[in-house]
Amino acid sequence: MAKLQILEFPDERLRTKAAPIEVVDDALRSLIDDMFETMYDAPGIGLAATQVNVHRRLLVADVSEDRSEPLVLINPEIVERDGVQTCSEGCLSVPTITADVTRAERIVVTGLDRNGESIRVEADGLLAVCIQHEMDHLQGKLFVDYLSPLKRQMVRKKLEKRARLEREHAEVRA
Ligand code: NI
Repeated sequence: MAKLQILEFPDERLRTKAAPIEVVDDALRSLIDDMFETMYDAPGIGLAATQVNVHRRLLVADVSEDRSEPLVLINPEIVERDGVQTCSEGCLSVPTITADVTRAERIVVTGLDRNGESIRVEADGLLAVCIQHEMDHLQGKLFVDYLSPLKRQMVRKKLEKRARLEREHAEVRA
């Protein structure tokens, strides 16, 4: 397994719309394993392929405390949604930033698992938030898109400054 690089806002590649996956093979399973390793290492509770610069409809998630509920969704589609909930969200592609986002309280998602078998997942609470957040990534959408333009501009400035400081520190270390 290998840790993958996570793209960070405002990287334009995060805006790419992912294409459906046609074949679930060993190469894809290897990518899935790498995505889990990357997500757990970060640490995070969800990761979309878009975030590791693979523009295909795939996400992984695990909202458990002890990494006991790994979920793989290939070509996910929301077939039912109910209710609303507002949750403070963060994102591995938007480090250090959190913001309240309102989403469906309960969803039903269909897709394929890592063996290419059809699955149907009923999710509520945090898992429902996580799946909706990751599915947004597959559409090129980020949680900061739900903020006002002014607030999003502040986030962009903050992260650009952070990236600049990191580059300068890297140069000092070199
Ligand atoms: Ni995210």
